[in-house]
Order: sequence, then C-alpha cells, then structure tokens
Amino acid sequence: PKTTISVIKADVGSFPGHSRAHPKLLETAAQMLRAERGKLLLDSFVTHCGDDLELVMTHSHGANSEAVHRLAWNVFAECTKVAKRFKLHGAGQDLLAEAFTGDIRELGPGVAEMEFEERESDPVLIFMADKTGPGAWNFYLYKIFADPFNTPGLVLDPALSGGFVFEVHDTVAKRMITFSCPEESYSLLAYIGSSSRYVIKYVFKRDGTIVASTSTQRLNLTAGKYVGKDDPVMIVRAESGFPSMGEVLEPFTVPVLVAGWMRGSHNGPLLPVGLCDANCTRFDGPPRVVCFGFQVANGALVGPADIFDDPAFDRVRARCNELADTIRAQGPFEPHRLSAGEMEYTTLPAVEKELENRWKLLKE
Ligand code: 13P
Ligand code: 13P
Ligand code: MG
Ligand code: MG
Ligand code: MG
Repeated sequence: PKTTISVIKADVGSFPGHSRAHPKLLETAAQMLRAERGKLLLDSFVTHCGDDLELVMTHSHGANSEAVHRLAWNVFAECTKVAKRFKLHGAGQDLLAEAFTGDIRELGPGVAEMEFEERESDPVLIFMADKTGPGAWNFYLYKIFADPFNTPGLVLDPALSGGFVFEVHDTVAKRMITFSCPEESYSLLAYIGSSSRYVIKYVFKRDGTIVASTSTQRLNLTAGKYVGKDDPVMIVRAESGFPSMGEVLEPFTVPVLVAGWMRGSHNGPLLPVGLCDANCTRFDGPPRVVCFGFQVANGALVGPADIFDDPAFDRVRARCNELADTIRAQGPFEPHRLSAGEMEYTTLPAVEKELENRWKLLKE
C-alpha cells in the first residue's frame, strides 16, 4: 500500500500582530486531527511557523483527496472561530472562500503532498516558512538536486548520478514544464531564477519516483488583491537513492534573500530556526523557515526532530541578521522593496490610484 503525506497550511489568526499562531489554535487543530487517526488519517502532527498553522497528515487516500482537504478546511474553519473569539490578528486571513468547495488548493491554504511506496527506511524532511512565498524553495531545490558542490552524492553515488527531473509551474500563465538535470540545468535556471513567477512544484527521479513536493499557491493571484503572503511548505525525502539528510540541509547554511517580509512587500534573508524561534518579530520577520524530520513507518510519523535547533546553523543565522541590517538600511528603496511588477500584488496600487489624476503628460 502507498503512503500519502499531506502538508496543508493556513494563517487563520495570530498574536500579537502577524508574529505567531496562538497555542489554542494548535491545540484545537491537533485534537481534530487526532480524532481522525485510525479513520481518515494514519498519523498527524500540528505545528506552526510564525503566524501559519501547519497540518502534517499521513493517510492512504492519495494526493488531492477531497476528504483530506475537507478535514483540513474544517480544522482551519474551527480555528478561525477560536481566533475570532480571542480577536486574534487576521482571523481567517487565508480562507478566501465562505465554504469548502471540493479542492482546498483554490481556496487560500497552501498544499504540498506526495504519495509513495515506502522504502525499507524513509526519512522525510518537512520545511515550513513564514513571511515569504512559494518561489523561496527554488534556490534550495536546485542546490540539493542539481549542484554537486552542494550534494557530493550526485558525483559519488551511482544511484544519484542519473540526475533529477524538475517540474516547474508558471504561476501567472498557469502552465507547467519539466527539465531533466544535469543536461538541462541552464534552461531550468533561466526560469527558476525568476522565483516570483516560476516555482519548482515537484522533483522526481528519472524513473518517476517522487522526491520533493512544494506548495505553489499564490494567495494574491487567487484573491485578486493583497491578503498577506502565501508562506510556503515543502516535503523532501532523503537517503538511499536520494540526497542524504545533510545534503538536503546544506544549502540552508547560505543567507538567501527571499520576497515576503513586511507587508509582503520586501526582500529579506530567510533565517533557518528551531521551533522555539519560529516567531516573527523584527520588521514582522525576518522571513524564517523551520524543518521537522521524521521516519515514515507504515504511515506513522516517527519523530519529529526539530532540525534547525542546532548550533551548526548559528553562523547562517548571524549572517542573515547582518544581511537584514544591510538591506533594512535601504528603507523604501528597491531591491529591499520588491520590484514594481511584484508590488502590483500589494497595497501599492491603492496609493497609486489616489494620485492618478495628479500626473501630467510630458511633451516630446
Ligand atoms: P555514520 O558512520 O555515522 O553512520 O555516517 C554515515 C555517513 O557517512 C553520513 O554521511
Ligand atoms: P503573513 O502572510 O505572514 O500574514 O504576513 C503578513 C505581513 O506581510 C506582515 O507584515
Ligand atoms: Mg498573518
Ligand atoms: Mg504567515
Ligand atoms: Mg501569509
């Protein structure tokens, strides 16, 4: 039998401001998922990154199961009630519809799923980020699955030397393409370097075995206006024919600038943190990522290990903080502020609308 992992997340209210999910929401969600163990679900784990409530579920219903998506929706709806009772900030923020309509992917929450035949041992890493967007994973996935300077296994392990296939989604034109690496790595980079538009959705082995899956929902494209940032999640399998756990983690030792800080309108460094530090503070950030590691055993989530709760990531955290100081000093100027095209998906158009009549055309 195959195992499915579904990671579904939404920001349905936080305190204070956009900094963290309230413990009562985590408790409510954990209870509702636990009640489904042995029924709809095999296992579950609830956590948060910043203000985003993260549901990790294992089951045997495959990706895009209506029943599993409905359960996640019901959890978010119930947690929204709690958030409203406490007058939490942004209660129900990411729920863009009044009711569940069959496919949660179109309704605001972020979704990463994968179905696979369990190997003899199946280590799985689940990454969850706040104050950034789906394209943030592009850099890391390229490094993990296509860069031998990051992943020596690509050179040393015959099981990896065939390379990997990347499925890229164009979030604007709603189309997809695949690239096989290493031979198409330049073409891959030509697109995924524009990470606000092109997002790596899946990584496969040549034989079609799934290795990585990400959420690609872009809230502002779904809602048609600024409603917060679509803080993303990612699932990566490791070891035995895939990159090792340490190879998957290695790119997170580099400070990388991602979009999504303050009002979803600024670039800032993505800080890898343990759960105790997964709260956004400075300038509503900086953007952060947590990682939980599990061994998946007949659907059970054996773990978790709080991966970035580790002094080995102290240096990147310090460098990220320095980079935060450097880029913050630019205030409202690009490239701290997002480029003009990206600002169209923020509240800037409202300001521009008010000033529209004041502009006078220049004569040639
Ligand atoms: P151990 O000898 O600690 O199992 O190390 C295996 C390894 O080389 C990991 O990269
Ligand atoms: P969230 O998407 O995490 O709610 O971020 C809102 C924001 O941009 C705060 O400055
Ligand atoms: Mg929020
Ligand atoms: Mg968030
Ligand atoms: Mg958000």
